[in-house]
Amino acid sequence: MAIETRAESKVRTFGENIESDLASRFLRVVETAAIASARTMGQGERKLSDQVATEAMRSTMDSIPMHGTIVIGEGERDQAPMLYIGERVGAEFPDGTEVPEVDIAVDPLEGTNLCATGAPGAITVLAASERGGLLHAPDCYMEKIVVGPSCKNAVELDAPVADNLKNIARRLERDVEDLVVIVLDRPRHEKLIADIRAAGARIRLIGDGDLSAGIAASVIGTGVHAVMGSGGAPEGVITAAAIRCLNGYMLGRLVINKPELEQRIAKMGIKDKKKIYTAEDLAPGKQLIFAATGVTDGALMRGVRFFGEGTRTSSVIMALRTAKVRFIDSIHLEKGPDVKVKFA
Ligand code: FBP
Repeated sequence: MAIETRAESKVRTFGENIESDLASRFLRVVETAAIASARTMGQGERKLSDQVATEAMRSTMDSIPMHGTIVIGEGERDQAPMLYIGERVGAEFPDGTEVPEVDIAVDPLEGTNLCATGAPGAITVLAASERGGLLHAPDCYMEKIVVGPSCKNAVELDAPVADNLKNIARRLERDVEDLVVIVLDRPRHEKLIADIRAAGARIRLIGDGDLSAGIAASVIGTGVHAVMGSGGAPEGVITAAAIRCLNGYMLGRLVINKPELEQRIAKMGIKDKKKIYTAEDLAPGKQLIFAATGVTDGALMRGVRFFGEGTRTSSVIMALRTAKVRFIDSIHLEKGPDVKVKFA
């Protein structure tokens, strides 16, 4: 299936060019948001960092020819001034050519505290798909486990931690002691952390950012072998889009622990609140685009660097149907004829 146009009668199949075109336009969206928030790095103003990223993301998104709908965003319409769930974004082509219908999940700044304190791992990120290609997850926690392509079906959400680690180690042809597991540093993970330690694996505790951690776990060479524990469900959906493009493996289960969440999932038509989702359930789209830019340095992307004559950004952009994963190092030149470009 392809991204479809709004008018049913004029459904048009987009070829690879259009997916690539949208991907490069979404790259600009995450780059712009990263540059804006990176200017606030270390200022201790997490809300401001998030606000400038959101504003930059929103305004750049409105230059993309598409009928976009935010399906995961900054909150419900009455909670967020922009990029709220259900908001329509995008532009028309000047010549009236039909534009694609796109569902979009955004996290304008993942790791607001990381940016506010200048700590590693803050990113700007979004995922996009044809209509219906991203689960409209409620804003609650999700228990997650994310591993790379070699560990498909090697882990289970309810299996003992030691068993999962043994299976991961076997698939990666190493000892459990050689593994690195990323866990959000939260009191709710006390038992999980104790279990990982008891099994002998190494742990990297992070203050925030289990989305970028999940992507790192799916890429060989990052030194991250798994992400375990509960984090945001919306972040889980965006992670799933990346996992599908990277051929990784992910399991997730919503944590429904409040009456209002029961109502919310009932409205969404979710009958089984204990359902274990795979990446394919969370991001079922046939055309998926994932874009992220580093705000502060991370495992996969460097943070934004400002130099006298411009700005340098490091991003990853992935597209499922066209099967492309691109790591993009962009230099945005700002100052006229005497500008100097450095190789690395
Ligand atoms: P922000 O983007 O809101 O700063 O936080 C990101 C994050 O750390 C996610 O990576 C994670 O999924 C979630 O928050 C965890 O939530 P909590 O901080 O409530 O444990």
